[in-house]
Amino acid sequence: MSSNQNNQSPIGVYDSGSGGLSVLKELKRILPNESFIYFGDTKRMPYGDKTPSQLMSFCIEILDYFETRNIKAAISACNTSSAAVLPNLTKSYPFEIFGMIEPTSKYVANLNFKKVGIIATAATIKTSAYKNSIEKINNKTEVIQQPCPGLVELIEANQSDSQECFVLLKSYIEPLLKQDIQAIVLGCTHYPILESMIHEITNHRIIIINPALVVAKSVKENLTKQNLLNNNTPYETEFYASKNPQLFEEVGRQLYSGCKNAKLLEL
Ligand code: DGL
Repeated sequence: MSSNQNNQSPIGVYDSGSGGLSVLKELKRILPNESFIYFGDTKRMPYGDKTPSQLMSFCIEILDYFETRNIKAAISACNTSSAAVLPNLTKSYPFEIFGMIEPTSKYVANLNFKKVGIIATAATIKTSAYKNSIEKINNKTEVIQQPCPGLVELIEANQSDSQECFVLLKSYIEPLLKQDIQAIVLGCTHYPILESMIHEITNHRIIIINPALVVAKSVKENLTKQNLLNNNTPYETEFYASKNPQLFEEVGRQLYSGCKNAKLLEL
């Protein structure tokens, strides 16, 4: 922690758009005294079709902004950035950066499934981050990967309940069902918005794992160990989007009802 930070400093949370609000919702629930700043990079979404070097520069811009806000910790509420950037981050910061992959992989590996499907963006799947880390912890679990291009764009356009979204999602889930998976990991923070559609497609026969709570719990554990928790009253959460904050808010409220007063912030 640098001299500008203290226990009352906020926690920065980012994603390509509103998806990371699924993680913020759990963070707010289990860390009620913490102040949060949320940034959704709606101008450059989707992240799933970007290259690792593009994703690296987006991440650095966001973390640089968070640094100016004297945050005490950052959370990449974005699997794509967690998988494709964080292991190779070329810049260091005076705060810890928490990602999605490690806590989720540990959790899934310990559930001892024979076969588990993971749905995520193309960029996340390209890294095989989940497959490698789950199978490394538990070599009896086989991870079947399914990239899902197009879903995030539909969700951010507020089309998550459209027929187009249903058909596209079904085309991604069916190959997994043919492989007899027991569970599906939502490997993109936008996908919890599709949970009831997935239940419908799978006929409620498959366990759906939303990593948000697991990640939030591991952040709490780490901040507690580092003596970084805030005991005072938190500030109101600040929400920023790099394009169309009204639409961001509208979509975002489906994942976290506390999303309000979003402001435009172009980095
Ligand atoms: N929600 C993000 C993730 O978890 C990014 C999705 C995207 O923008 O493609 O990967």
